[in-house]
Amino acid sequence: MLASFIFSVALVLLVQAEQLLLADESPLFPWIRNFASIGDSYAAGLGAGSRMDWLCSRYAQSYPNMLHTSLLGPNSARTHQFLACSGASSTEILDKQVPALGPDIDLLTISAGGNDIGLTPILSNCIYQFYMAEEDDCASAMQAARHLIADEAQLHRNITRLIDAARPHMNREHGVIYVTGYAGFFGADDNDCDNVTWAVWSTLESQKQYLKKDLRQALNALVRTVNAVLRKAVADADAAPNVRFLDYDAHIAQTRGRYCEAGVREPAPNRPGLAFYEWNTVDAGEDKTALQNRTGGDVPRGSFEGDIAERINQTLREHPDWEFDPEKGFVNKTMRGEGEGEGGGVDGQGIVGDTVHWLLPDAYKRVFHLRPEGQAVVARLLVGDLWVRGPGGGGGG
Ligand SMILES: *[C@@H]1O[C@H](CO)[C@@H](O)[C@H](O)[C@H]1NC(C)=O
Ligand SMILES: *[C@@H]1O[C@H](CO)[C@@H](O)[C@H](O)[C@H]1NC(C)=O
Ligand SMILES: *[C@@H]1O[C@H](CO)[C@@H](O)[C@H](O)[C@H]1NC(C)=O
Ligand SMILES: *[C@@H]1O[C@H](CO)[C@@H](O)[C@H](O)[C@H]1NC(C)=O
Ligand SMILES: *[C@@H]1O[C@H](CO)[C@@H](O)[C@H](O)[C@H]1NC(C)=O
Repeated sequence: MLASFIFSVALVLLVQAEQLLLADESPLFPWIRNFASIGDSYAAGLGAGSRMDWLCSRYAQSYPNMLHTSLLGPNSARTHQFLACSGASSTEILDKQVPALGPDIDLLTISAGGNDIGLTPILSNCIYQFYMAEEDDCASAMQAARHLIADEAQLHRNITRLIDAARPHMNREHGVIYVTGYAGFFGADDNDCDNVTWAVWSTLESQKQYLKKDLRQALNALVRTVNAVLRKAVADADAAPNVRFLDYDAHIAQTRGRYCEAGVREPAPNRPGLAFYEWNTVDAGEDKTALQNRTGGDVPRGSFEGDIAERINQTLREHPDWEFDPEKGFVNKTMRGEGEGEGGGVDGQGIVGDTVHWLLPDAYKRVFHLRPEGQAVVARLLVGDLWVRGPGGGGGG
């Protein structure tokens, strides 16, 4: 509540500041010249807006790019090192992104932890069942994640290392590091979603996972425990008042941004305010054909999207009578001939092969990632916090 009050105050201030800005060219945050962002696909903005690169799947409507191109206000002296990369674990961020950081950074954002605890296997086994998972596989993926979260020598230690490694790159007087958390994906206030399944293989009814309230609550709880570890790692880095944790979970809930919000009949992929992408959906203003065509290049092996492709690939290898249909998802090839004509948009070739990543258009790969609406919540919250708390240093612990 307090945070949301501060948020509202900050927004008002921000609007005023933006008006001032029109009259006066002085930047909102003149002290932010070197801005950098590191992290995973939540910072790269996988799927949000237009693609900026293939290797890391960075997108224009990611919160770091939104900050730099608009919300931090104009400042011709500011540069942005956009190093976040889809699929990166905290270890990879430590090994590849941190060393690439320049010196004397004024503002650094970090998004890390989701890949460390196995987000892809959880979503795969508990929601989409990309690889023909059964209920037990969901339980064990969640259990494995809980162990990694609870083990101080894993998630907590790795995030701490990351913060410590980034610190020498920061401006000593006023540099600020924001560690951004994650948001729970599901509303869990009613049972309307209990009979909804997002399992991608249309057959095998008996093995499908449903979005039951218990599952939704368990997944939310998992996100909250990740956030708690991130918050603690930030607090433990206390010697410097310049490391801050940005928890946007409550704001996504407050704006009814989650799947299965009370009264919502899923699927509802274009519901205004929905913060996350649903499977195979197109945002307003997006080119549906472009999203669904098998255009595009490689997605990195081991990335969120690459992992999904591998799981699907594996299932297609093991079940040659199935195929992927860009319109319908996954269908039984033998059955689709019956009474369906030729339609569906799949030519039958290129389904199984070494270019499997191409058979997953962007409209599929970005599931469970933030839509521009969700990214904007993070970016605005960050600017609001920055406006209220100001530069690092000085202020004490
Ligand atoms: C933490 O880092 C170690 C060393 O890089 C790595 O082996 C381990 O898998 C990481 N654990 C998590 C949960 O990220
Ligand atoms: C789920 O149940 C509700 C009624 O409780 C019904 O209106 C809705 O169509 C059902 N959805 C599915 C996917 O079966
Ligand atoms: C997508 O593919 C269709 C059919 O092959 C083609 O007509 C259309 O121009 C393509 N769209 C884009 C944006 O590539
Ligand atoms: C696919 O459909 C055919 C024909 O109906 C059926 O014999 C086969 O068992 C189905 N495969 C799966 C995996 O459901
Ligand atoms: C998909 O499977 C084929 C073999 O069927 C393999 O050659 C290819 O490397 C796989 N691609 C991915 C991304 O796993």
